[in-house]
Amino acid sequence: MNIRKVTAPPIKCQGIKTRLAPWIAGTVPSDFNGAWIEPFMGSGAVAFNILPKRAMLADSNPHVVNFYQAVAHGTVSSRSVRSHLIAEGEKLLRSGGEHYYRVRERFNIASNPLDFLFLNRACFNGLMRFNRQGQFNVPFCRKPGRFSPAYVTKIANQVAKVEKALKLGCYEFVCAEFQDTIRTAAKDDMIYADPPYINRHSDYFGIWSEGQDRQLATALASAPCRFILSTWHSNQFRRNNHIDTLWGNYFISTRKHFYHLGAKEENRNPMIEALVTNFKPRSTLAQPTRQSTGRQITIFESSAGMVASEG
Ligand SMILES: C[S@@+](CC[C@H](N)C(=O)[O-])C[C@H]1O[C@@H](n2cnc3c(N)ncnc32)[C@H](O)[C@@H]1O
Repeated sequence: MNIRKVTAPPIKCQGIKTRLAPWIAGTVPSDFNGAWIEPFMGSGAVAFNILPKRAMLADSNPHVVNFYQAVAHGTVSSRSVRSHLIAEGEKLLRSGGEHYYRVRERFNIASNPLDFLFLNRACFNGLMRFNRQGQFNVPFCRKPGRFSPAYVTKIANQVAKVEKALKLGCYEFVCAEFQDTIRTAAKDDMIYADPPYINRHSDYFGIWSEGQDRQLATALASAPCRFILSTWHSNQFRRNNHIDTLWGNYFISTRKHFYHLGAKEENRNPMIEALVTNFKPRSTLAQPTRQSTGRQITIFESSAGMVASEG
């Protein structure tokens, strides 16, 4: 599968894979003709760039799922997004943080997809973070002039692209735990799993644990179809030991990547990303550099052109 032009989705989140979508797409075998299944859809960046004909996009975070369901049902559109962001953006310009925290409070009492989008785009660093009570708790980005006409148009266009994708394909959005989503897979489907990165991301919507990483490995091992899993391989300080303990029997390709969301260690240094597959990946750029025991092939790719921020 090839992506002609990479586009950013309307929602932002930690670990967003917009810039890695061409690499993921290039890994998909050309005979794939089933459903594209994402148990951890997050922003939806991968599916909305790959544009499969059929997709099941799931996440345990009800707010991202509600947002895309609302676009699918037409209750949220590029037009309603534009007028909401213009109206709320004007209030933000007048009252700054006071208005941001007012919207955050009303969202935490009764969530709605348009307030979710507003908060997602007006919060600090586009973070997606909830407390233990499930309340959105990211502070204001401190830019009252955030919603300039150009920025509102950019977001409205991102929603319009999703609307178009949903018209062309058959997409289902489901709020579910990953085990339930993986259980729905059939022989010809492709699972793309992008879980929170163990020891790296936290607070998405619940905590991701070592145990869940192991449960994911078990669920993927018993899935009847092919899968692609994103995980982190290493950075200059440390290596993800699950690469050997959980994923050592699969094919592993790696590539250098810079994340620009958040303000932590991972953003100051490049990360080596890994794609784990239960089939030999198709790749035009990759050259195997070593073959270790079992079926594991480690492929290191050039980072040229990979340094970019998320739009
Ligand atoms: C790394 S993000 C996915 C990013 C996505 N590929 C993108 O490009 O935006 C991981 C996602 O997993 C979701 N998640 C965390 N725990 C989960 C669980 N137990 N079941 C399903 N989804 C879960 C989070 O809400 C988050 O959206």
